[in-house]
Amino acid sequence: MIHANITLYRELVKARIDDRLFGAFIEHLGRAIYGGIYEPGHPSADEDGFRTDVLAMVRELGVPIIRYPGGNFVSALHWEDSIGPVENRPRKPDLAWRSIEPNTFGLNEFLRWSKKAGSDVMMAMNLGTRGIDDAINLVDYCNHPSGTWWSDLRRSHGIPEPYGIKVWCLGNEMDGPWQIGFKTAHDYGKLAAGVGKALKLFDPGLELVACGSSGPGMQTFPEWEATVLELCYEHVDYVSLHTYARKHGNDSPGFLAESVNLDRYIRTVINTADYVQAKVRSKKQLMLSVDEWNVWYHSLDEDTHIKPWSTGPRLLHDIYTLEDALVVGCFLIVLMRHADRVRMACLAQLVNTIAPIMTENNGPAWKQTIFYPFFHASLYGRGEVLTTIIESPVYDNPGLGDVPFLEAVAVFKQEEKELTLFCVNRSPDEELVLKAKIKGFGECRFREHIVLSHQDPGAVNSRNTPARVVPGTIKTTRIENNSLESVLPPLSWNVIRLKLK
Ligand code: AHR
Repeated sequence: MIHANITLYRELVKARIDDRLFGAFIEHLGRAIYGGIYEPGHPSADEDGFRTDVLAMVRELGVPIIRYPGGNFVSALHWEDSIGPVENRPRKPDLAWRSIEPNTFGLNEFLRWSKKAGSDVMMAMNLGTRGIDDAINLVDYCNHPSGTWWSDLRRSHGIPEPYGIKVWCLGNEMDGPWQIGFKTAHDYGKLAAGVGKALKLFDPGLELVACGSSGPGMQTFPEWEATVLELCYEHVDYVSLHTYARKHGNDSPGFLAESVNLDRYIRTVINTADYVQAKVRSKKQLMLSVDEWNVWYHSLDEDTHIKPWSTGPRLLHDIYTLEDALVVGCFLIVLMRHADRVRMACLAQLVNTIAPIMTENNGPAWKQTIFYPFFHASLYGRGEVLTTIIESPVYDNPGLGDVPFLEAVAVFKQEEKELTLFCVNRSPDEELVLKAKIKGFGECRFREHIVLSHQDPGAVNSRNTPARVVPGTIKTTRIENNSLESVLPPLSWNVIRLKLK
């Protein structure tokens, strides 16, 4: 058994979590759209061809914002191909994923779908092969009420009211050599400034996201952020971060420690953004948008064997294990912990491609292991995040140094008088005895202890065994005089819910 302590003070509120921290991402990639959210002819399809079994799961996750339409896909996209009468839309090669894009599902279909899902949209624009003019046209089409060429075109497409999309990503991963139209930091920074300036003239209320690095492992990180932000600081509101955890061989301890890397990545970007703020003498503090994050490695090899130029290929079909769900849980904890600066984040992605929801064409939909930590965080994590003081034993990781066995954060929902502790026990073989002192909240009562664990860390859910890894509740938590004692099973995700008087 190992032992760890947590101390919480009512006064130590770090930030109110922005609901958009629990966002997700849908790209025209693999079976995310075709055979994922859209499958006319499927027994559950509605009048728009949207799978209602998938819609129900997305609603269950309570995703407040969804990034669309890419990803790498967006960087050569002509969005105009995806609007107007379907029979007139061109089939086009999608060079990013070497697939065929039939454009039978496009911009307006997605906005209709997201409304049914109860989600706002974070729209990404193509700054790979395109520039300022197209960015303005797209925003005009989506957001102008009427009386301009593009807004009247939208109205002629049967959408009289503007969408009022607030959040716009100025390109995608423009630092990545794999990106169509990738750029130097200088070229991208200038372009982002130009686009940002134009869009803010269009509507100063838009929230604009500049591309940060594609990951902390990029050679140009964090110089990219410093150069880009120096050029566009006053014209944007967020800088993006992307990160995908990957297991190397059998290195479970290293894989489970990936969130330590995310924590450092976030802190470096905050420091870089604040350095630029000082340098350009700005009053504005930039926020962070971790608009792609997840675990991604299971399908990497398989994907090299997929034949190009089909629609809806089985790309990025990662099948997630219990261990992956713990990494996702740790990422969620780190994101919540940084909610003062990380205002938006998108689990990449949502359906079939590196996703919590899987489907078969003409078959069922089911929940992957990673569905559950996301579901719990989205449901119980909307409130004030507390500075969570943790004392935990550590293990040594060659790359990262000390890694605590306990990853944890506490969130207080004042309206519901509920305090929730989210915890991961990283130990593969030891139960973790957790003691928590809860100060300044009045009397706390135990409500529920939800656990996701499995004796096999490699256990997965599948079409035939959709409920192999599902959360349950355990009774190892007691609370007396606001001192909590609990036992967290080895390799487990825990949600300890307390009710305040
Ligand atoms: O989410 C999959 C891909 O990962 C996205 O298209 C790209 O932006 C990132 O590299």
